[in-house]
Amino acid sequence: MTQFSVLVTRKLPSSVLDRLRAAATVDLYAGDAAIAPQELRARIADKDALVCLLTDAIDAGVMDAAPSLKVIANVAVGYNNIDVAHARARGIVVTNTPDVLTESVADFTWALILAITRRLSEGERLLRRGAWKGWALDFMLGTELKGKRLGLVGLGRIGRAVAARAPAFGMRVAYTSRREATIANAEFMSFDRLLNTSDVVSLHVPLTEETRHLVDKKALARMKRSAYLINTARGPVVDEAALAWALQQHLLAGAALDVYENEPAVHPDLLGLENVLLVPHLGSGTTETRTAMADLAIDNVIAVLGGRAPLTPVP
Ligand code: GLV
Repeated sequence: MTQFSVLVTRKLPSSVLDRLRAAATVDLYAGDAAIAPQELRARIADKDALVCLLTDAIDAGVMDAAPSLKVIANVAVGYNNIDVAHARARGIVVTNTPDVLTESVADFTWALILAITRRLSEGERLLRRGAWKGWALDFMLGTELKGKRLGLVGLGRIGRAVAARAPAFGMRVAYTSRREATIANAEFMSFDRLLNTSDVVSLHVPLTEETRHLVDKKALARMKRSAYLINTARGPVVDEAALAWALQQHLLAGAALDVYENEPAVHPDLLGLENVLLVPHLGSGTTETRTAMADLAIDNVIAVLGGRAPLTPVP
């Protein structure tokens, strides 16, 4: 059998790499940061497959530098980093890693909802700087979730898994999406009505031309002044400068962000605000889930190189 060769742009768990090495020749980029575009183009030139991360921009130029490329396996569910139209035109299969991260991201979304409404990061910052004067009845009060409305923007796998956890916290669920769906105990509504009426607005849409800056100044101004915005989807879905402005103007009560417009940079105005919780893109970040994501990506590569259908091609 021909020995296929695969470029892997970042270290993967060793058990996963071993499986790939048993099936193909592996060229592993072992740097600590994302592979530089020049190096990516040079190293992909003779490869049959690419295993990449959401931090790698896989554009037409990268693909065209690799005449034998057959499959691009993104180790992420989002694939906005890949020019899928160009891949399709070239006959290159593109795969992502849905399902295996759904529960992990849904748990994490709830971690953010609870943390921002109960002021966890703000409280920890205060304690660590020695500013805690002791317990007081009216000290650092948060907001209760029971009886409040959770507004989900997007009702894919992750949105549904977030909705499924809502009854545990006594929240009613509303959602907006391109299509009305059947989901128990969740009310479909327009984006504007959802913004107007939700106490927590959580984003679960992919980044596309349609969703870029979906949450802009106008959208933020529609939110309740007591409401919170949660983003575990993709940074550019929110206009970060507009969000910083809206938080400064107290147009909403707070925001919890896992993703940013220009990662790893964060809008400097957000860094100084107390009513924002900022974490470094950790949504799917458990050992179990990240291993499952890498495993699925490798399974996709092995399937395509073996002449079989990929398990999870992008739609
Ligand atoms: C992470 O952000 C992913 O898309 O998997």
